[in-house]
Amino acid sequence: MIKKIHHLAVAVKDLEAAAGFYQDVLGLVFSGPDTVAAQKTKVGFLDIGECSIELVQPTEESSPLTKFLQAKGPGMHHICFEVDDIEAEVKSLLERGVAMVDEKPRPGAHGSKVAFIHPSATSGVLIELTELPSGDEDPA
Ligand code: CO
Repeated sequence: MIKKIHHLAVAVKDLEAAAGFYQDVLGLVFSGPDTVAAQKTKVGFLDIGECSIELVQPTEESSPLTKFLQAKGPGMHHICFEVDDIEAEVKSLLERGVAMVDEKPRPGAHGSKVAFIHPSATSGVLIELTELPSGDEDPA
């Protein structure tokens, strides 16, 4: 079951520089950065009510995000839906023939499990599903 929009992610080339605008101009509170080794990225979150903005920067040339930035430049990257059971969601999507970037969940930020749905299935939007560690209702 999809519970809510967890975060909107913006791809950036320089996390600290990008965070400056969101903190200093918009007045949001930044938490991070944290490294997500599995995705070769570092991320930081800015909470807005129950949702947050994720700033995500590649940490290695081989990160999938490097290609995105080279092709499109900084900008909107993905929407993340929080789910209660990511294994069940991914299994159900695969059974219905939905193109997945991840056919099984992998580690995300802060002990979460994540899986991405391919944009070819979603009218061009990269959608991340996340299941938070149990007992963690914090949006980051
Ligand atoms: Co994300």
